Amino acid sequence: MAMSDDLNAIQEQVDQMLKGAKSLEDLERVRVQALGKKGSITTIMHMMGKVPPEERPTMGKLANTVRANVQAAIEQRKVQLAREAMERRFSAEEADVTLPGRRLSPGTQHLVNQIREEIEDIFCGLGYTVEDGPFVETTYYNFTALNAPEDHPSRSAKDTFYVEDNAPEGKEAHVLGESDVLLRTQTSGVQVHVMEEKKPPIYMICPGTVFRPDTPDANHLPQFTQVEGLVVDEGITFGDLKGTLDYFTREIFGKDRATRYRPHFFPFTEPSCEVDVSCGVCHGEGCRFCKGTGWLEILGCGMVDPNVFGYVGIDPEKYSGFAFGIGVERVAALRYDLPDLRMLMTGDMRFLRQF
Ligand code: DAH
Repeated sequence: MAMSDDLNAIQEQVDQMLKGAKSLEDLERVRVQALGKKGSITTIMHMMGKVPPEERPTMGKLANTVRANVQAAIEQRKVQLAREAMERRFSAEEADVTLPGRRLSPGTQHLVNQIREEIEDIFCGLGYTVEDGPFVETTYYNFTALNAPEDHPSRSAKDTFYVEDNAPEGKEAHVLGESDVLLRTQTSGVQVHVMEEKKPPIYMICPGTVFRPDTPDANHLPQFTQVEGLVVDEGITFGDLKGTLDYFTREIFGKDRATRYRPHFFPFTEPSCEVDVSCGVCHGEGCRFCKGTGWLEILGCGMVDPNVFGYVGIDPEKYSGFAFGIGVERVAALRYDLPDLRMLMTGDMRFLRQF
């Protein structure tokens, strides 16, 4: 019977010690004393072999019960101590519960991405597909197959970020920094990829990032977003181009903004033009925002040059098409009358939260 006395004594002793435990460290000490490797209960458990066989079941049961009780008591005291600690923290001396809490500020989609998706929605509504293309591109796709002559100024390292060290083996790049591999300066190269992969009819857009070695200022960013568009089908005319882009500008800017088409030059389209939208600040009167002209440029476009069809094996006698390139940051700036494109890049939450 000595062992059962011991067990009961241990139980009582642990209960006493728990009452005195004032911290988690005290509690841990009690746990080690009772349940640790050399703890009182563990020691008694080890002595079970010496108990006469007929008493063993009763003793074993009692020992297990005491151990379970002690474990439960320790857990209970732990919860109690935690609650006491919490209450102390919230007591007037330690925390002012009347202070406002820290508010979580959920993020929103960046304005540029919002507009990019809006443009995708408009063209998806017209049955266009949304394509993708590589940021790192070869001169063939970015320039050559887009009918840009070898000496076109945009090929120079002043206007294009070249990816170093890619002159063909045994051949040196003929101008410092130039090579066959570059960061795309326009999304127009995706036209070539798509025409190589798909047969007409093609109705596609390709939104994406482009890169140019420009110093950032109110109207330039070294990295920005374009949405390329390409239509190739039988009997496509300039009327289709104009109808499509007029529809697009009205959807994006509202019905009260006018458009105009100015002749321009792009190597890959003929004829080509730039499209302006009437100024949203002065409504065409002329102001500082539109530099007194009443108009703001939003995109370049034109009828696909037959030479481009030549590079991808599309018969220009059978098919015709139009293409366009929209600057997404410009659309954002013109829609919200932003005086400086850099506002879109600085990550100033006071500005971005407005959209
Ligand atoms: N790639 C031209 C640029 O970056 C924009 C452009 C103009 C795209 C005319 C076109 C186009 O597809 O037909 O300035």
